[in-house]
Amino acid sequence: MATLLFAAAGGNLLYAQAWNESREEKVQRMKWWSDDRFGMFIHWGIYALPARHEWVKQYERIADEDYRKYFDHFSPDLYDPREWAARAKRAGVKYVVLTAKHHDGFCLWDSRYTDFKVTRTPWGKDLIGPFVEAFRAEGIRTGFYYSLIDWHHPHFTYDRIHPNGPADDEERKRANEERDMNIYRQYLRDQLTELLTLFGRIDELFLDFSYPGENGKGHRDWDSEELLRLVRRLQPHIIVNNRADLDHTDWGWDYITPEQFMPHEWPSVGGERVPWETCQTFSGAWGYSRDEYTWKSPHQLVVMLIETVSKGGNLLLNVGPTARGAFDDRAVERLEGIGEWMKFHSRSIYGCTQAPDGYEAPRNCLVTYNAKTHRLYIHVLEWPFKSLHLPGFRGKIKYAQLLNDGSEILFATPSPSGGHMAEGSGENDVVLTLPVERPGVEVPVIELFLK
Ligand code: GLC
Repeated sequence: MATLLFAAAGGNLLYAQAWNESREEKVQRMKWWSDDRFGMFIHWGIYALPARHEWVKQYERIADEDYRKYFDHFSPDLYDPREWAARAKRAGVKYVVLTAKHHDGFCLWDSRYTDFKVTRTPWGKDLIGPFVEAFRAEGIRTGFYYSLIDWHHPHFTYDRIHPNGPADDEERKRANEERDMNIYRQYLRDQLTELLTLFGRIDELFLDFSYPGENGKGHRDWDSEELLRLVRRLQPHIIVNNRADLDHTDWGWDYITPEQFMPHEWPSVGGERVPWETCQTFSGAWGYSRDEYTWKSPHQLVVMLIETVSKGGNLLLNVGPTARGAFDDRAVERLEGIGEWMKFHSRSIYGCTQAPDGYEAPRNCLVTYNAKTHRLYIHVLEWPFKSLHLPGFRGKIKYAQLLNDGSEILFATPSPSGGHMAEGSGENDVVLTLPVERPGVEVPVIELFLK
C-alpha cells in the first residue's frame, strides 16, 4: 500500500512537473484521433526477408552473425511509399504508424547512433523521409512505432525474452556485467530525439513494450519518465500509447492498446472509460509472413472496424510489406474490400463512438453514434426479412435511410397485436421496414436522424 501511495504521489508530482494538462485539454489534444478512428500499422524491417514472423530472431534463437544475412540482402526495389499511401487512402485510413525500429534493433532511418540501419544495407537510403512525405501528401497523419526492446544493441542486457542470452541464470548475470543499461537508456533518448526532430510533426508514438518482473524490463529500465518528458517536450501534441510501464501515472500514457483480441466492452481503468486503440493483423503475424494462412476476410475486418467504434475505440490495422517493398496481394485485396465499404459508409465510422444509453443495439446489429450530427448508425450483420425491431425507440427518430444509397426506410410503431399480415410490436418499439433484398454491400447500414 505504501509503495502504491508513493507511486501515486510520485506520479502526480511528475504530472505537475512534466505535463501540466487538464482533462479537457487532453480531450482536445486527442480529438482528431478520437474522430479519425481508423489507422494503419506498418511492420517493416529486415524480418520481411525470412518472412517467418517479426520475432523470428527470438523464435529461432538466431545469433547476430546469422541474422546478418537479412541485413546484407535488404534491397526493397519495389518500395514506393506513394503507392502505399494511395492504398491506405482508398481504404479510408486516416493515420499511419510505421515501425521505425522493431525488437531486432534494425532502424529504418539514417540514425547517427548505430550502423544497424537501412543506409548501411544494399538499399542504402533512408526509408522514413519519403514515407512521411508520401502519407502527408495524401492527408494522412503519421506516427512511429519504436521498440524499447533491442536484441542487437550490445548494452541491452540479456533478459527472459532476449534471443541470444545464456539460458543459465548465473551465466546470464556474468554476461550482463559487460553490458551497461545506462548506455542503452541514452541510446533510447538519442534515437527518440532523432525521430521526433528529423521528420516534422509526428502525431502518434507507439512504444513497445514492457515486461516487468523477474528478468524482465519496465519503466526503471527504460527510464520511461524521462523518455516521456522528452517526447512531450519535443512534440507536445503527440499521442502516446501505454506500453512504457507508466500505468501508475496519469500523464505517461494517453490510450491503452488491446492487441489481437476484441474487448467485450469499452475498456476502463480505475472504473473510468479510457481512450483505446486496438491493433490487429490481417493474419497472425505483424511482419510479412509468407506461409501464414489465417487471414481474416474483408467482411470480418469491416465488422472489426465497426465493432471497435461501437465500443468507443480506434482500430490500427496492420500491413506487413514484403522484402521487395510491396503490399502483397492478400493485403491489397483486404484493403480494397474495406475501402469499397468505407466509400459509402465512412459516415458511420469517422466522428462516431458508442451509442448513448437508451439506444440499445437491435438483434444481430452493431450501433455507432455521431454526437455532433445526432445520428445513429445501425449496422445490420444478418439481414432480416422485412422487419427490424428497435426496442424502446418510439418517438426518437426523425428520419431513416439506408446509408449506401440514401434511400428512405419507412418506420412505425405498429399495434401490439399485429394481424395475420402485419407485424406487431411493443408500445415503445419502432419497426423499420427493410427491403427484402439485402443491399449488396459488405455490411448494410441504416442511418437514423434522431430527434
Ligand atoms: C507485440 C509484439 C510485436 C508487435 C506488437 C504490435 O508487442 O512484440 O511484434 O509489434 O505487439 O502491437
